[in-house]
Amino acid sequence: MATMKQVAEKSGVSTTTVSHVINGTRLVSDEARERVLKVIKDLHYIPSAVARSLKNDKTHTLGMLVPNSSNPYFAELIQGIEDTSFMLGYNIILCNSYDDLKKQIDYIRVLLEKRIDGLILVSSGSDRELTKLLLSEKTPKVLVDREVTGVSADFVETDHEHGGYLATKYLTDLGHRAIACVAGPKNVLSSSARVDGYKRALREAKIKPNPDWLIYSDFTTKGGFSAFQKLISLADMPTAVFASNDLMAIGGICAASQGGKRIPEDLSVIGYDDIALASYCNPPLTTIVQPKHELGVLTARVLVARITDKNLPLRREILEPSLVIRQSTAPLAHNKLSK
Ligand code: RIB
Repeated sequence: MATMKQVAEKSGVSTTTVSHVINGTRLVSDEARERVLKVIKDLHYIPSAVARSLKNDKTHTLGMLVPNSSNPYFAELIQGIEDTSFMLGYNIILCNSYDDLKKQIDYIRVLLEKRIDGLILVSSGSDRELTKLLLSEKTPKVLVDREVTGVSADFVETDHEHGGYLATKYLTDLGHRAIACVAGPKNVLSSSARVDGYKRALREAKIKPNPDWLIYSDFTTKGGFSAFQKLISLADMPTAVFASNDLMAIGGICAASQGGKRIPEDLSVIGYDDIALASYCNPPLTTIVQPKHELGVLTARVLVARITDKNLPLRREILEPSLVIRQSTAPLAHNKLSK
């Protein structure tokens, strides 16, 4: 690959002049500028971002860490972040923590070693080591979707408790009273908040929670499949399930159908996230919409603003979830009114 020195020699100017032409940091005569640009094109020269970052102490790179990049929710969130970051002059390094606290710490360290200008973290859960590392680091950061205990930083999420309430209230409005909840991991704040919303809607409808109908899973299709297998094998099977993400709802619909249950006639199912797949599963999934692209755009803007001015007041941006009704839910069948 051609070097800046070779461009300078071939152009008959200094490497400093080549740098000024590339970065527009000082006026260069039109003739010299044209000459340098022509040589850059002829030699297919690509400026070194590493050299530039050493000079400017900025890499124009953001580090992003998510718990599971194979989950379409995160894929859609990442797209909003990446598009906006690129528009604002930043690239992304994406890492996947696989819901593992140790990998999460290791990756944050890797990103910090790469001298990222800012960190975007969707945490896989909080622990003392993570809190200590984030508090010790001055790198601008934004927490997304899940807070980290003891860390005050810019924060962007959807109101998870209200989303869990909306999902469950919709089921009680359909006449269901035997309502189960398949939750995400217990240590993930977004999941526990949705369970709180589920319980609030049950209380409001004067429904006593049945502990057999609250199952903690792992936000995956496989986890949803096995949770629903448990629910449909109960003698006292629920008539409706709130799955606190779409992947578990889709896995659950598969398990219920394989177990001979019709959706929604025998079992109403509502999910959470509204990933693109939700509209195309069979039957199309009623779910709670998280404004994923808007979350992504907002996250990138909040972080770049923090990079630009570290003294800005902390921001907490809580977006509202909403209900989208499709074909996986129905009013309680009359023959089940006794539930
Ligand atoms: O589907 C993954 C879940 O984890 C989403 O609901 C998102 O809010 C995150 O908490």
